Amino acid sequence: MILAVDEENGIGKNGRMPWHHSEDFKHFKNYTRGSICIMGRTTFEDIKSFKKRDSGRFLPDRQCIVLTSDARKHKENNQYTHVQFMDGATGLIDILDFANRANFVEDEIFTHLSRVTQNRPYTKIPDISIVGGKSVYELFIKEGIVDEICLTRVKGNHNCDVIVNIKDWVKDFSHIDSKVLSDNCTVETYKKDVVDESKKVS
Ligand SMILES: NC(=O)c1ccc[n+]([C@@H]2O[C@H](COP(=O)([O-])OP(=O)(O)OC[C@H]3O[C@@H](n4cnc5c(N)ncnc54)[C@H](OP(=O)(O)O)[C@@H]3O)[C@@H](O)[C@H]2O)c1
Repeated sequence: MILAVDEENGIGKNGRMPWHHSEDFKHFKNYTRGSICIMGRTTFEDIKSFKKRDSGRFLPDRQCIVLTSDARKHKENNQYTHVQFMDGATGLIDILDFANRANFVEDEIFTHLSRVTQNRPYTKIPDISIVGGKSVYELFIKEGIVDEICLTRVKGNHNCDVIVNIKDWVKDFSHIDSKVLSDNCTVETYKKDVVDESKKVS
């Protein structure tokens, strides 16, 4: 899972990213390249409008699943073959099943991922990036299947109208790395603390 927060834990304003730091965007591209990116419809619209001003392409080298309650409406205007709209997702297995049917993941990978996800919820799920916004982050955090949080801390208060409870989200994770990207951005990496069920005392 990848996100950026300002000093007030804000992530968005008026449906947009409130800042544009090229070094963080480069970091986002490197982190998500080659993966299946899962996002909410608002975030899709935001990235789309940004890309129009940029190169006109929508997150190339990635496959994207956009969650919405009205997939049919968005499918009609969809100009990108690597972007698929999904109705009413309830969680990862549901989304993987959809990704499999959209030929985003091979049958064997889907079967494997479904099995490990159901049996061992904290097993690393390769090649899937949760890229926001808040509603989608919350869906996955609640499900407990996020194994890594890659968090950019952005300097300043950007008067956001979408605020996240990052302290709560990382409470079962260990902070394993910090990297300064620029004067404005520092990336922190958190890994899920794996509970050894065999050592649990009931
Ligand atoms: N700072 C960061 O790292 C970062 C990253 C990503 C986004 N953002 C910002 O965050 C803000 C958007 O966050 P948000 O929470 O308001 O919106 P969002 O999560 O991007 O999108 C919300 C929409 O996604 C759809 N959706 C979500 N969960 C669904 C589910 N389980 N099943 C079906 N559809 C589902 C619904 O679309 P419909 O309305 O079509 O039904 C819902 O209205 C924006 O300002 C954006 O720029 C920031």
